[in-house]
Amino acid sequence: MQSITKTLTEIVSAVFEKCGYDGKLGTVTASDRLDLCQFQCNGAFAGAKLYRKAPFMIADEIAAELASNSIFSKVESVKPGFINLTLTDEYMLQLTKEIALDKFCGVPQTENPETIVIDYGGPNVAKPLHIGHLRSAIIGEALKRLARACGNKVCGDVHLGDWGLQIGLVIAELSERYPGEKCFAEDFDPASDKVPELSAELLCEVYPFASKKSKENEEFKAKAHTATFDLQSGRAGYIALWKEILRVSVADLKDNYSKLGVDFDYWYGESDADKFIPELMDILEKKGLSYESDGALVVDVAKEDDKAPMPPVIVRKSDNSSIYATTDLATIIQRNRDFKPDKIWYVVDNRQELHFTQVFRCARRAELVPESTELTFLGFGTMNGSDGKPYKTRDGGVMRLSDLIGTVTDASLARLESSDKVAAENREDYARKLGMAAIKFGDLINHRSKDYIFDLDKFMSAEGKTGIYLLYTVSRINSVMKKAGAAEKKFSGIYTDSERELILKILMTGDSFISAMEEKAPNIVCENAYQLAVSYSRFYHENRIIDEPDEAKRASWLALSDLVREMLVKHLDILGIETVENM
Ligand code: ARG
Repeated sequence: MQSITKTLTEIVSAVFEKCGYDGKLGTVTASDRLDLCQFQCNGAFAGAKLYRKAPFMIADEIAAELASNSIFSKVESVKPGFINLTLTDEYMLQLTKEIALDKFCGVPQTENPETIVIDYGGPNVAKPLHIGHLRSAIIGEALKRLARACGNKVCGDVHLGDWGLQIGLVIAELSERYPGEKCFAEDFDPASDKVPELSAELLCEVYPFASKKSKENEEFKAKAHTATFDLQSGRAGYIALWKEILRVSVADLKDNYSKLGVDFDYWYGESDADKFIPELMDILEKKGLSYESDGALVVDVAKEDDKAPMPPVIVRKSDNSSIYATTDLATIIQRNRDFKPDKIWYVVDNRQELHFTQVFRCARRAELVPESTELTFLGFGTMNGSDGKPYKTRDGGVMRLSDLIGTVTDASLARLESSDKVAAENREDYARKLGMAAIKFGDLINHRSKDYIFDLDKFMSAEGKTGIYLLYTVSRINSVMKKAGAAEKKFSGIYTDSERELILKILMTGDSFISAMEEKAPNIVCENAYQLAVSYSRFYHENRIIDEPDEAKRASWLALSDLVREMLVKHLDILGIETVENM
């Protein structure tokens, strides 16, 4: 189904053309004065300049033509040149029925499906997932589902940080703890020698320990750098140990992501880009882009009109090891080859913007992707505590993601314990879903680029713009439907104002999905879901649905309730939020 403003724009544009004007003037938007009309067209103002006429003359002419169209209950030309439009109830109901039958539930399908790769998650092997990774996972997952729901071919790649210094640090530390292990010897034989079995708990302890040590101890730091370089050069014992680190770490990550309801199509790591590095270096050299500077190999990416300094991007360090930018550039070669994407979106912390600007500019200069392939950095802000600083544990440490999930699930469980609606055996499952809804909606309702304050009480509130309020609304409709029994659901008319207002929100939903996709902004989906829920609540309070004696009216209201439920569930699903039956 196409969006309502698109349909109306087609109608109004045709009238502009019929009257001898440019059809482009016929753009229709939602009204910002719902007390006056539902939709508006301001094309007469631009037309006035083009055709040297007073805007109201054009508006009058267009309005007179539109008035004969039976879909409008009111067409007004308002000085100095507005065209105000309101639809008839019959037409609104007809569109509502179409949405109810639409298999995409009113989400407009794109005319030109695109292949989009989304780089999100970005966890680092051997390091525990912290809440900085939470936003990337939540926002990236929502963008992936949104782009898919609009009809695009989308794949999500976790882009595991598995090739950097953190592995060298872990290897260096393990070599000091277990010096006798064969994997640290030069003559390690992968066919017959074994590596020590590791655990997630051990890794959680080793990495922070080694990281701290490297800051205090130069010798250890040098050792970690050498280990990183040796690993990247393929030293057999280190590769074997790295595989063990990867095995343990990835299993732990998958477990955490599945609790979050986040899943990736690809689990490629930075290490997978390694085989594309020689090709990258070759291209950079052949195109005359790379040159040596202080022993490192760099590429200039500054532009004349840069306002801030733009340092060259380092593609190989003086010790010959490759770094973050190298793997990102090589990954672009791999993605271009494997997916031929129209777009690559990077959902990463705002603080990495400079890195991505450098990488994208270098990729453009080197023509690693066709010009038409968009490379977009979708930066996000920080999740802060009530003190306005990055959210920490009570004792001031970095908050682990698993701890945060635990805190929120416990809070939900405490609430459900006092509820008589939820059976004891469902409580744990519900608590997890409620907790996730609270965290995810609390995050996604903010524009991704903004910082926000993590406020558990606010996120868990059943009122206001919260995930809990939305789950509550769905559960309320569930109980309406259950109480009403299996009545036939058939739209028969629009009987009250609150119902008309709700239907208008339903009709505007397609437009909100289009803007969310255009702006890559899941907060627009959150806002629309909230608006639908608020309108439904008003409708519910102002009409006695179940007790309504008029059969046709009752059936129509049930059909409407059912549709709202379906749409809310769809919105929530796009946001990666699961619903519960009752609460
Ligand atoms: N692993 C990185 C980090 O924790 C994020 C990776 C983002 N994606 C990328 N292609 N660089 O900061």
